[in-house]
Amino acid sequence: MSFLETAKKRYSCRKFLPKPVEPEKLAALLEAARIAPTGANKQPFKLLVLQEAAGLEKLKKAANIYGAPLAIVVCGDHRNVWVRPFDQKDIVDIDTSIVTDHMMLQATELGLDSVWICYFNPTVLREEFQIPADYEAISILALGYSAQEALSPDRHDTARKPLEELVCYEEFK
Ligand SMILES: Cc1cc2nc3c(=O)[nH]c(=O)nc-3n(C[C@H](O)[C@H](O)[C@H](O)COP(=O)(O)O)c2cc1C
Repeated sequence: MSFLETAKKRYSCRKFLPKPVEPEKLAALLEAARIAPTGANKQPFKLLVLQEAAGLEKLKKAANIYGAPLAIVVCGDHRNVWVRPFDQKDIVDIDTSIVTDHMMLQATELGLDSVWICYFNPTVLREEFQIPADYEAISILALGYSAQEALSPDRHDTARKPLEELVCYEEFK
């Protein structure tokens, strides 16, 4: 599969089979995360991997993970992130999003389905997993095998804005 074929094949899966994700596939997902680029190579993240019932039950108090058998909570490390000196912008959201996207697309290539989740209660999540104050849960990637019909790779023809709306050349308009 070319990169664009993989990217177009991916869709947000919101119904998963109870089938577990194989350890070698989890290892590949985590390797995809590990090699992701981050600002100044700070690698300011920690991945909380949940696949056992106790952890998944705790996670469900904070988020709907649509029955996924595997969830990876991507946490940003505010102590160790590049900060832009001009305006003190902390780029942990950007870094962790690249990490999440690497895993999400690796999942597609492995024949796994996924959904990126930001709709969660951060206070509940922090309490349930005792996430230290310096860390912030930024995203949850829920993964597994789909129990729904796959969305068509062609849906982007209409489900996404045309390039003319998204791109401008030489001057901002
Ligand atoms: C940063 C981000 C946060 C998202 N949060 C949620 C979420 O909390 N719950 C959910 O069901 N989908 C969530 N999604 C999935 C989007 O709704 C979905 O990607 C978008 O509608 C496009 O559909 P597609 O992924 O099937 O192409 C999120 C996606 C992104 C990139």
